[in-house]
Amino acid sequence: MFPPPRSFAPALLDAPLVRHARASSEKFTQSSGRGAPPRCRKGRMDMKEKIEALARQFQQELEGAGTSDAVEKLRVAYLGRKGSVTQLLKGLKEVEAQQKKELGQHINMLKKTVEDKLSQQVEAIRRAEEQRMVEAAEQYDVTLPVGSGAGSYHPITIVQRQLEEIFASMGFTIEDYKEIVTDYECFEAVNIPKDHPARDMQDTYYLENGQLLKTHTSAAQNAIMRKYGPPLRAIFPGRCFRNEALDASHENTFFQMEGMMIDKDISISNLIYFMKTMLSQVFERDISVRLRPGFFPFVEPGFELDISCLICGGEGCSTCKGSGWIELCPCGMIHPNVLKAGGIDPEEYTGFAFGLGLTRLVMMKYGVKDIRDLNSGNLKALSQFTHE
Ligand code: DAH
Repeated sequence: MFPPPRSFAPALLDAPLVRHARASSEKFTQSSGRGAPPRCRKGRMDMKEKIEALARQFQQELEGAGTSDAVEKLRVAYLGRKGSVTQLLKGLKEVEAQQKKELGQHINMLKKTVEDKLSQQVEAIRRAEEQRMVEAAEQYDVTLPVGSGAGSYHPITIVQRQLEEIFASMGFTIEDYKEIVTDYECFEAVNIPKDHPARDMQDTYYLENGQLLKTHTSAAQNAIMRKYGPPLRAIFPGRCFRNEALDASHENTFFQMEGMMIDKDISISNLIYFMKTMLSQVFERDISVRLRPGFFPFVEPGFELDISCLICGGEGCSTCKGSGWIELCPCGMIHPNVLKAGGIDPEEYTGFAFGLGLTRLVMMKYGVKDIRDLNSGNLKALSQFTHE
């Protein structure tokens, strides 16, 4: 094995990159130009001396290179195709075989040092430039009074928190759930097997790995049943996604809030009671509710829950198309298959579930005419909503 190469002129190569008087080299007259290999006063200089001399010369020239242009010129002069380090490497061909390895290592060390020092110099110049820009920029005035705008909550957040408070006061837990779910969670576990026509209604975004963006908050039902077992009361708000054509009342991204209550002897009257209490608090007035039959594979029986029209109070107006009622929230008694899939015995337990359209509720509460405003990020529209 060869001994490791002796390092050369270490003090010079490791000198800090500050300008100082040029040390005069005893061995050379002057270099024949930037980066040009040093010429020897007394004729031929051996290879090792050349390497050391070049290292010293590089260090001197580097100290004088104060701009990125100058550093680039130096890089070309030393490392370019005709650069002096490159020339030294080419000159190895002429060296005797036994010396080749050691000298080659020396030259490569020089090359590496030159590369490192050049990039350090570029970085130092960049930082100095940046600092000059910071110093030159107009100084802000710390004594000026600041605006008092403290920001505001998104209207969906406001209504979601309000609902959470109401349900928490009725003993419900608040659950968070994933936005990317499996086909099983979103469909199979809630009694929508493959090829069921109900899947067509939920234009689903499928991912390449077979998972999907949840189309409804019902996708969390199974996991929550398994997490708590009966009896349970839980709400789970969440963002849902469907590949809808966008218009004033359709968005591909919207919010729902699902709720479930499972216990012994839960009936439709419990469902009506909870919905009426919750909605009267949200709308801050006494709300009448009614149920109409509705089909959803995960509930039996299933309903559409209507509320008395918020505009006319039930007398009939253009908003409710004269009926006095507005459709608000699908719901029903949880299907035995869904309970079973969640590990709950349907002979022993029953429960209700509802899927409140949170986005729709916000639109109704605040009179938002265009659903796209809610996802727009337009602060002029969104900052008008405040927590009462
Ligand atoms: N997941 C349904 C949808 O998005 C809404 C729904 C209907 C949820 C009935 C329920 C329910 O929990 O009981 O279309």
